Amino acid sequence: MANHINLDYSGSLNFLTEAEISSYSQKVSNSNALLYSGKGKGSDFLGWLDLPASTAKEAINKIKNAAEKLKEKSKFIVVIGIGGSYLGARAVIDALSDNMNFSLKKKERENPLILYAGQNISEDYLADMLKFLENRDYSLIVISKSGTTTEPALAFRLFKKHLIYKYGKNEAKERILSVTGKEKGALKKLSDAEGYETFAIPDDIGGRFSVLTPVGLLPIAAAGINIDEILEGAKYMQNFLLSEKSLDKNSADLYAVLRNLLYSKGKMIEILANYNPSLNYFTEWWKQLYGESEGKEGKGIFPVGVNNTTDLHSMGQMIQEGTRNIFETVIWIEKTKKEVEVPYDDSNLDEINYLAGKRINEINEKAMLGTVMAHIEGGVPNLRINIPELNGYYLGEMIYFFEKACAVSGYLLDVNPFNQPGVEAYKKNMFQLLGK
Ligand code: PA5
Repeated sequence: MANHINLDYSGSLNFLTEAEISSYSQKVSNSNALLYSGKGKGSDFLGWLDLPASTAKEAINKIKNAAEKLKEKSKFIVVIGIGGSYLGARAVIDALSDNMNFSLKKKERENPLILYAGQNISEDYLADMLKFLENRDYSLIVISKSGTTTEPALAFRLFKKHLIYKYGKNEAKERILSVTGKEKGALKKLSDAEGYETFAIPDDIGGRFSVLTPVGLLPIAAAGINIDEILEGAKYMQNFLLSEKSLDKNSADLYAVLRNLLYSKGKMIEILANYNPSLNYFTEWWKQLYGESEGKEGKGIFPVGVNNTTDLHSMGQMIQEGTRNIFETVIWIEKTKKEVEVPYDDSNLDEINYLAGKRINEINEKAMLGTVMAHIEGGVPNLRINIPELNGYYLGEMIYFFEKACAVSGYLLDVNPFNQPGVEAYKKNMFQLLGK
């Protein structure tokens, strides 16, 4: 493949200098040395680093076979999980699905429609989904590394009961796949006791770095997406970032440096902006990756996301003229999957004949370029990640790119990017309030 994702940081050069970037060279190579030698903070959780290249063919085949079996018998698949056990799969499935994939008739779609549960504790959400599935054919994939997370455990208890009531115990067993930690946890115990087919999450890979394990790959394959392409793209990026030592060419190191540099200049918030709503959940995945990895010890860039041009009509004012503590990273997809041209209209009552004959994407691109220029003038530094097109290969590149950059960025910030001690605080209170 000739082209790859690339980082354009020209929109940040009004705010920082090349010399300032170069001054990070030593720190970056120290961070990489810590990362690759396994001597840095959180080094028990570096399994993701080599994952694209090291995933065994048998493991991939096991995922593909199970996904195929589930696909054959299901019009709908409910994927149960939260946080790192949810967002990566949803990011990829949403990005690669047809925008009109919500058609409920399977014969109009080739693949089952993926529904999500266990990512909230909304009674209405669960009640509506159970009712919807009452007379529809479905299966379950339940994902929890610890096997003890309340939200997915609750949803699984409800859907398991529903499935057994609908199909009987034996058939329900054929319709449940479980992804969980190798040895411990309630879900592992339950799955073994009930005889569900189980997929192991490696101990040394944390939730938000686990999309290239069965956590992400199984639901993605069940949605009918080619997981080989994703792994191939990730593998390219793994090798590229490992071999490219110079800071100006190593895009992940450069991204890590640029965001730390901007942070040191008071840019406390990073907005990830896309111009294609298919990337909405990719942004959610990115938010967790960076928020949970860096937000600790009173430090960290606050990650937020916008879907443009939609959010230019809601958040545009704030970004253009609000508190000047923001920088923006745009994800731009160069080539669309489909083509739509603006038609000419004789009456021109809507006064947009000046756009006639143009592709919609050309207009979207000018909106993006115009917005970037306005934001830079308004004091918002801009980074741009260009993707040649939105397919599995480039999503694989993006996943590995952001994971690697996140690790380096966390080390530059001098935090442990692989733990999340702060997540326990709400759980402690909730359990106390529930009398656990
Ligand atoms: O990244 C993380 O560690 C978290 O977001 C977890 O993935 C999330 O809390 C779900 O945990 P589990 O997979 O143990 O249910």
